[in-house]
Amino acid sequence: MTNRCTLQLTVLLCLTGAALSMNYGTLRFQQSSSNSACQKLLWQLITSPQHCLDDRMDFQIPREVEQPQQVRKEEAMVVMHEMLQQIFSIFRRGFSNAGWNETIVENLLEELDGQMDRLETALEEITKEGKFPWENRTVLRLKTYYLGIFQYLKGKSYSRCAWTVVQAEILRNFSFLNRLIGALQD
Ligand SMILES: *[C@@H]1O[C@H](CO)[C@@H](O)[C@H](O)[C@H]1NC(C)=O
Ligand SMILES: *[C@@H]1O[C@H](CO)[C@@H](O)[C@H](O)[C@H]1NC(C)=O
Ligand SMILES: *[C@@H]1O[C@H](CO)[C@@H](O)[C@H](O)[C@H]1NC(C)=O
Repeated sequence: MTNRCTLQLTVLLCLTGAALSMNYGTLRFQQSSSNSACQKLLWQLITSPQHCLDDRMDFQIPREVEQPQQVRKEEAMVVMHEMLQQIFSIFRRGFSNAGWNETIVENLLEELDGQMDRLETALEEITKEGKFPWENRTVLRLKTYYLGIFQYLKGKSYSRCAWTVVQAEILRNFSFLNRLIGALQD
């Protein structure tokens, strides 16, 4: 279903050709609204205030992606796509211990999916223009960062506190994503 939509969009873009170049203003607006929706949904997942101080963890973030204002939009899109994909797979894990409302998690996954779809369409355009920023070490480091989160969850047997810690970390990641979205300029 998703793939078919992406395909239709690609065909449409091909047919209209050069006349229709990427509209980054629209993309920025759509991504940023969806990002706010994600943040709202994540806040709703907080069931009750928990004291999980013992479970706190410092996930090491790649230094290169700490200053998104200096990132080119093509790179920003690759980094965002990787982050969204990783966040998507984190929330598809067994979160039964977290005591979360499944409807909210489903809505969150849907928003993430929509953002990834739009980025994929934009990245296809960029690839056609030959401007694709080929996977670099930043993406690899990001994978390591999220692997750390996966390992942490597993190590804590997906406990409620572990999920609380991860949820807070991801919530902060959405603020970071917001800044990356700002790099989507025409
Ligand atoms: C890799 O991408 C990041 C941003 O995502 C950028 O800051 C960095 O300069 C790129 N590195 C190389 C070697 O292209
Ligand atoms: C889950 O969230 C949805 C949407 O916010 C709400 O309608 C529903 O009542 C919630 N379910 C439970 C069991 O809290
Ligand atoms: C996730 O949030 C933490 C905490 O603010 C931050 O240090 C880190 O840079 C974020 N990671 C990503 C990939 O945005």
